[in-house]
Amino acid sequence: EIAFYQNRFVDVDEKVIPIQERGHQFGDGIYEVIRVYGGTPFMLKEHLARLEKSAAAIELEMPYTLHELEAIIMEGLKRSGIPEAEVYLQITRGISSRQHHYPDASAVYSMTVREVRAIDEKIRTDGISVILLEDERWLNCYIKSLNLLPNVIAKQKAASGGHGEAIFVRDGIVTEGASSNIFAVKDNVVYTHPATKRILHGITRAKVMELARLQSVAVKEQAFDEVFLKQCDEAFITSTISEVLPIAVVDDVTLPNERPITDGLAAAYRHLFS
Ligand code: PDD
Repeated sequence: EIAFYQNRFVDVDEKVIPIQERGHQFGDGIYEVIRVYGGTPFMLKEHLARLEKSAAAIELEMPYTLHELEAIIMEGLKRSGIPEAEVYLQITRGISSRQHHYPDASAVYSMTVREVRAIDEKIRTDGISVILLEDERWLNCYIKSLNLLPNVIAKQKAASGGHGEAIFVRDGIVTEGASSNIFAVKDNVVYTHPATKRILHGITRAKVMELARLQSVAVKEQAFDEVFLKQCDEAFITSTISEVLPIAVVDDVTLPNERPITDGLAAAYRHLFS
């Protein structure tokens, strides 16, 4: 495991965050999670492009160019020596005595590189159970902001009930998971919430839609409600860490056992890096 703070590599356990860090005091920053397969970061360009968009959305000036960021990530991977890794990186509005409005400070980049939290093959085959919860987040969920309190609370509710994910519902519409996007399949058509401000525009989500079209599976970016989700033929979540993960149970409803489309997409996704 290795970490990086401001301009240097540090030990993950080293105490490096000044108490007046904006990320620490306000959650004033943005982040990305990148999966590394066999030493190569997967869809790095897409993640860095989204980071740049999140930065622009909160009027944050990036401390490094994308080129420099890429070099720091590659150096971190080299130093860690971890081939199957997850890279967490964040940028905050810097260090300054506490005041709400933007300080006259430079943004701070930090990063950790660690062994990926592997998901059990049995869970990948059997699928997870999910619970539906009211989406109480703000209306700019397309920004990958550090403010994850609603996500953290939802994830805890799911975990304490033995569920794999919490799925948010806003005004009756299924939006996304606490740390994933969600898809439902009905009559051989794949549905997912459109890429509006109400969801994070997942990198995995976009890739899976592309793979579906390559397989001549119809995809509709169309919002659906919880009744639709509970009556669908198949459902799955996507994320950098989960990849394509089937949903077996929604609240108290068990979905059908056969999942031809989910299985096809999960296999095609895995094929991209193996
Ligand atoms: N979460 N929606 C939310 C709210 C997320 O936090 C994530 C990712 C996704 C999926 O995005 P992507 O396919 O680009 O990983 C959707 C990361 C993995 C996390 O917070 O750990």
